[in-house]
Amino acid sequence: MIELRNICKVYHTASRDIKALDHLDLTIRDSEFLALVGHSGCGKTTLLNILAGYDSFDSGIYLHDGIAVNRQTDISKSSYFRLQIGTVFQEYNLLPYLNVRDNIALGGYYRKTADSRKRVPELLKRLDLEGMGHMYPHQLSGGQKQRVAIARVLMKQPCIVLADEPTGALDVSNARNIMNIFRTLNNQGMTIVLVTHDLNIARQCGSIAVMEKGNVAVKRDLLPS
Ligand SMILES: Nc1ncnc2c1ncn2[C@@H]1O[C@H](COP(=O)(O)OP(=O)(O)OP(=O)(O)O)[C@@H](O)[C@H]1O
Ligand SMILES: [Mg+2]
Repeated sequence: MIELRNICKVYHTASRDIKALDHLDLTIRDSEFLALVGHSGCGKTTLLNILAGYDSFDSGIYLHDGIAVNRQTDISKSSYFRLQIGTVFQEYNLLPYLNVRDNIALGGYYRKTADSRKRVPELLKRLDLEGMGHMYPHQLSGGQKQRVAIARVLMKQPCIVLADEPTGALDVSNARNIMNIFRTLNNQGMTIVLVTHDLNIARQCGSIAVMEKGNVAVKRDLLPS
C-alpha cells in the first residue's frame, strides 16, 4: 500500500511560485486500479512524478507498506524507485536507436539478472508483438509502441505501474486494446494508477480519484459495469 500524507510541492519560476500539490492525501491499495482525473494543471503529472521518484516534494510523507520512503537513505530510496515502480507515458519514451527486443530488455537493466533477456520472447508474445522484435520504434504504430513500452515495464516486474495518459495518443480501438492489457495485469494483482482525461477510460478502472487544485477532492470505488 502507498500512502501520501500532506504532500506539498511548489515550483519556483522566475515570475512566480506555483503550488502544484497542496497538502495532498492519497492512499493506493495493493492491487487497486485507480483512475486519476482532473482539469489540466491540477497536478496529476506532478503527483505521478512524485510517486515515481522523478521529482521531490517540499513537505509531507510518502509511505510504502508503512515505511517512509522519503526518510530512507538515498540508496534505499533509489532501490525502491528503480525496482518497485514502473512508468508508462503518452509518448511511449522508447529509445529510437534500439529495436523492440532491446527496448524491452532495457526494462530488466536494474534487476541485473543474467537471464532477463530470456523473458523477451515471452513478453513479445504476451503483448501480441511476436515477429516484431527486430523492428525499430519508428516502424511501429502508436498502439504497437505503447505495447512495447508496457512490455518494457513488465520486464522490470514492478509492484505498481504509473501510466500518464497512456491512451492519449491512440485511436479508440488501440486505446481499448491497451485498457484490456491493463485490466488483465490488474486482475493478475498489479497495482495501476492511470491518469486520463477520458471518462470512458476512467470508468474501466476499479476506482477513481478526482483532483482539484493540487489535492484529491473525491476518491471512490467504481462498480463494475
Ligand atoms: N517543471 C515545472 N515548472 C514550473 N511549473 C510547473 C512545472 N511542472 C508543472 N508545473 C505547473 O504545476 C501545475 C500542475 O502541473 P501538472 O503538469 O502536474 O498538471 P496536470 O494535471 O498533469 O495537467 P495536464 O492535464 O495538462 O497534463 C501547473 O500549474 C503547471 O503549470
Ligand atoms: Mg499531465
